[in-house]
Amino acid sequence: MNQKKSLSRKGFLKTLGISLVAFPVVGCSVRNYQLSEDHASLQNNPCGLTDPAEEGPFFVANTAEVVNINYTNLPGIPIKVQGKVYGGKRGNTPLANVKIEIWHADREGVYRPTGSGDVTDYDSSEIALRGHVYTNAKGEYAFHSIRPGIYGSRRRHIHYKITAPQHRPLTTQTYWQAEKNNQRDSVDRNTEECRYIHFRKNQRGVEVGTFDIYLKA
Ligand SMILES: [Fe+2]
Repeated sequence: MNQKKSLSRKGFLKTLGISLVAFPVVGCSVRNYQLSEDHASLQNNPCGLTDPAEEGPFFVANTAEVVNINYTNLPGIPIKVQGKVYGGKRGNTPLANVKIEIWHADREGVYRPTGSGDVTDYDSSEIALRGHVYTNAKGEYAFHSIRPGIYGSRRRHIHYKITAPQHRPLTTQTYWQAEKNNQRDSVDRNTEECRYIHFRKNQRGVEVGTFDIYLKA
């Protein structure tokens, strides 16, 4: 992405966030997938709209709707990613029923399958660590999986494809803070800080992180 263009856009969003504080919106229209505006969301979001990142060669379409995408019980450190999806004209309206497709490598850095296409192109035994979830009535989503391995010169990462009515589709990736290969990875340079997830281990030993997503209407 053109960095100058990206910074300009983010600057605009920040300006918009300030104006929202000064002039609260009254009587906005609400569609069934859009909820009431959340005026705190833009103030708490230093990055503006979520940036895209390349899809890569291993996206498989039409995977299952499943909260735990490690349904084949592959070994690894359990993780949970949670967050909210925002959109609307001002970028601060939680969106319900947003489809979030997720895929990532296994503990050894291998995709299952190491290929693309449609899920029906493969035997079910070849499909793992892939699936999709929808945001709930509050715009919230969550999924469980295992921490992916690092392959090649890439950073440790998770892929997402996000689809919401009347919003620009977004394909992106998230990363781990302060990790091996973060500096070496030449894919998705100038990554905004909001796509580096800070994971914390909970009492059950699950590493939990938050990734809020801001879509362009
Ligand atoms: Fe990847």
